[in-house]
Order: sequence, then C-alpha cells, then structure tokens
Amino acid sequence: MTTPEEKFQALIDAEEKVEPPDWMPEGYRKNLIRQIAQHAHSEIIGMQPEGNWISRAPTLHRKAILMAKVQDEAGHGLYLYSAAETLGVKRDEMQELLHQGKHKYSSIFNYPTLSWADMGAIGWLVDGAAITNQVMLTRCSYGPYARAMVRICKEESFHQRQGYEILIRLCQGTSEQKEMAQDALDRWWWPSLMMFGPHDSESTHTEQSMEWKIKRVSNDDLRQQFVDMTVPQAEYLGLEIPDPELRWNPERGHYDFGEIDWEEFWRVVKGNGPMNRERLEHKVRAWEEGTWVREAAAAHAAKKAARAA
Ligand code: 3HC
Repeated sequence: MTTPEEKFQALIDAEEKVEPPDWMPEGYRKNLIRQIAQHAHSEIIGMQPEGNWISRAPTLHRKAILMAKVQDEAGHGLYLYSAAETLGVKRDEMQELLHQGKHKYSSIFNYPTLSWADMGAIGWLVDGAAITNQVMLTRCSYGPYARAMVRICKEESFHQRQGYEILIRLCQGTSEQKEMAQDALDRWWWPSLMMFGPHDSESTHTEQSMEWKIKRVSNDDLRQQFVDMTVPQAEYLGLEIPDPELRWNPERGHYDFGEIDWEEFWRVVKGNGPMNRERLEHKVRAWEEGTWVREAAAAHAAKKAARAA
C-alpha cells in the first residue's frame, strides 16, 4: 500500500507538475511559500534601487526604458504573490511577515545605487543572475511557479540587455564614463554572486528542494553558470572583474574564481547591510500610504459583487 508521500514523490520523479488542488506534503507547501514569497518580496523591494534613478536618467529615452523595467518588476511581484496565494497564504500575511523581518528578500537590493552606471550593472549583473536562476525555475515541479517564470524570464532578458547596453555606451564614451562603469562593476560583482545563496554544503534547503524538484540546479552550479556567462561579457566591455583569482581553467572547462565574503553575505541577509533599514522603512511606508487604494478596490469589488447577486 503506497503512502500519499510515496505517491507524491513518484509524481515528482515522473516530471509531472504539482497543481494547487493536488495533495502535497506540508513541508513542500511551506518550502514553496517561503521561496515564492521571498522571490516576490525581492521583486518589489528591488524596485527601490532603480526607482532612485528614474528622475535622474540622462535622457528621456533612458527614463522611459528604466520606468518600463521598474513597472515590470512590480508585475513580477504580483505574479509571484498570486502563485504563493495558490498555496493558501494570504497576500497581507506575506506583507506582514516581510515587514516584521520574518520573510527575507534578496540581499542584492540592500546596496546603494551611487551612479547611473549602477543602472547598467544592475540590469547586466542582477537581472543576469536572476535569469540564470529563473530559467532553472521554469522547470520547477510546482505548476503555478514554473509558469510564472516563463513570462518573467522573457521580460528579464529585456532587463539584462538594456543594462548591458548602458554599459556598452559608457565604456565607449569618455574615460570618466568608463571609470564610472568600472566602479559600478567593482561594487556589484560580489553581491551579484551572493544572489545564488550559500555554498551547497551550507545550504539549508537545497537537498530537499532538489529531491522535490523545486530547485533543479544547486546554488554553486548556478553561480558557476553565471560566472562563465558573464566574464566574456566583461571582457567585451573592456572592464576588469574585481577578483584576482579569476582565471579560465581548461581542465574544468569553467572559470575558477575567488571566495565570497560570507561574513558580508550573512551580515546583509540578517538585516545589517548598507541599505536594509531604508529599504524596509520605505516598503512599510508605501504599504501604509497605499491602504486607501486597497480599501477602495475592496469596496468597489464588494459593490460589484452585490450588484451581480
Ligand atoms: N539573499 C537573502 N537571503 C538569502 C540569499 C540571498 N542572496 N541566499 C540565500 N538566502 C537565504 C535563504 O532564503 C535561506 O533562508 P530561509 O530559510 O530563511 O528562507 C537561507 O539563506 C539558506 O539558503 P538556501 O540556499 O538554503 O535557500 P534556498 O534553497 O531558498 O536558495 C535561493 C536560495 C537560490 C535564493 C532560492 O531561494 C531561490 O531560487 N529563490 C528564487 C529566486 C529569487 O528569490 N531571486 C532573488 C532575486 S529576484 C530578482 O533579482 C528580480 C530581478 O527582476 C531583479
């Protein structure tokens, strides 16, 4: 007599998708709520660093592109909150957990955006790292999450390309502009590698997430994919990656690279990064100031439902 857990694992092993009405182990549901909610929070908080430069974009053309990108991120957050809600969690609950510091968001968004070149580095590196991770998630065993990723990845590739194009323009510009691009790479390179999480040996969730095919590629392997893809792009720009140990390893067929500063990683993840406080204060203020919008939308929906009844 097979148990529900055995039946569930057989479905996972057969590469079938788990859908909202299906039976699932409580641990699977909880793990997905954790990851999808944090992913959604990252998209929403991630609007702040770039939003900071919309009013200071160098041209109307660049302003329009940056506005479109930031609006896309809001949409990604909404898809992901909707995917999390199919697991039985409420949107307000997830917001509360974020505001209380009980839900995380990606450490990368706790760094300041100091120059226009940062808009290029974020598109190129942060969205590039996000794409590396999210293409993998399109094969996630949970249907709503995998499907949300398909659309998000299409929009992310525009985000990555517009960022890289900003840097191409700067690197082909004046020496000051090229220095600005190099400074941005120096500040965003290592925090981008941190987006993939701790080493596999230190990861809390990787083993179980791989068994449930939530995660299809490990943190370290995805990080390696990202480094291998990005180093030639930096070379094309004529920029130097701030890692003296970076070198091509022909035996491995990959780039060897230096060790991440894990003390910095955990400091930022635990809330003590350069911008953690500002990011969360801004998020809570926006949530509170937006109460009237939510109340008006709920009142409208209730009136519409009453008329239809
Ligand atoms: N920032 C903050 N927390 C991190 C982190 C990071 N860079 N890397 C890992 N963590 C946390 C994990 O959440 C976990 O804590 P928790 O148990 O409280 O949730 C702990 O560190 C241990 O890490 P694990 O490797 O065990 O955790 P995961 O198996 O969840 O792997 C992950 C981490 C690879 C980030 C995975 O959660 C994931 O793939 N998430 C979905 C993708 C995502 O969230 N990307 C964030 C960026 S979104 C973005 O960039 C938007 C773009 O449009 C700009």
